[in-house]
Amino acid sequence: MNLTHALIAEDVAKAYTTGKIDTSVLDGLSLALEARELALVLGPSGSGKSTLLAILSGLLRPDRGRIVALGEDLWKLSRVQLERFRLQHTGFVFQGFNLFPALSAVEQVMLPLGYLGLDKRTAQNRALAALEEVGLGSRVHLRPLEMSGGEKQRVAIARALAKKPQLLFADEPTSALDSVNGKIVIDSLHRIARNFGATVVCVSHDHRLAASADRIITIQDGLIQSDTVSSANGRSDKLHNGTVPADAAQPEPAS
Ligand SMILES: Nc1ncnc2c1ncn2[C@@H]1O[C@H](COP(=O)(O)OP(=O)(O)OP(=O)(O)O)[C@@H](O)[C@H]1O
Ligand SMILES: [Mg+2]
Repeated sequence: MNLTHALIAEDVAKAYTTGKIDTSVLDGLSLALEARELALVLGPSGSGKSTLLAILSGLLRPDRGRIVALGEDLWKLSRVQLERFRLQHTGFVFQGFNLFPALSAVEQVMLPLGYLGLDKRTAQNRALAALEEVGLGSRVHLRPLEMSGGEKQRVAIARALAKKPQLLFADEPTSALDSVNGKIVIDSLHRIARNFGATVVCVSHDHRLAASADRIITIQDGLIQSDTVSSANGRSDKLHNGTVPADAAQPEPAS
């Protein structure tokens, strides 16, 4: 791995302590992800997927190892610098949609843009463009009660996308959806990686999503078990522990 990767985890370990018992969740995991890549992390319940996502996104400090995101060694930053980095460069889509019942779709998406210091008009334009991107251009005035589960999840993705993050994290974004809506949501995430050059990391235990990913990483017992570049992406190289073969180093140019 080298510093040109958008997101690097190096020898990351994390254990939780409950009472007197330490439970190791991640145990020396290494990974290197590229821009324009939708990486799907698959693993059974309790295998540490949410923990890994929280660590990769700078939300949770690992006990050991380092995270280098967009060239920044995250845990060498001050708390304020780390907060600013997360605000400016990362988007997070949570499993529950976390929408406000009283706000319309466009208002939900505009809300966090205020924290970035955007004026209302710019925020509105960005919010509308993000909703268009996820296929909700004609439904921007709906409130959560009037939306299907798939539409709510797409609003949550638009909210993360509107920040134009270079790193986008999604924790089980399709778990509450049927397979048709699940496919729409994963395809939205894939387009975001391709069209905006973002690195998208999606964790799930739904193996049906594999067909829509550029790269499939499986974790078990705190370690990467397999790391495969999807054949749907024109290649089918087997990678191990984040080691990227030379011919896989260049992402395809944006179309
Ligand atoms: N804050 C915490 N304190 C103690 N243990 C925790 C904490 N968070 C997670 N764990 C434990 O760490 C392990 C991994 O949890 P994690 O949430 O990362 O798994 P997961 O792969 O996301 O599972 P799921 O598919 O069910 O969401 C689990 O055994 C869980 O009980
Ligand atoms: Mg989880």
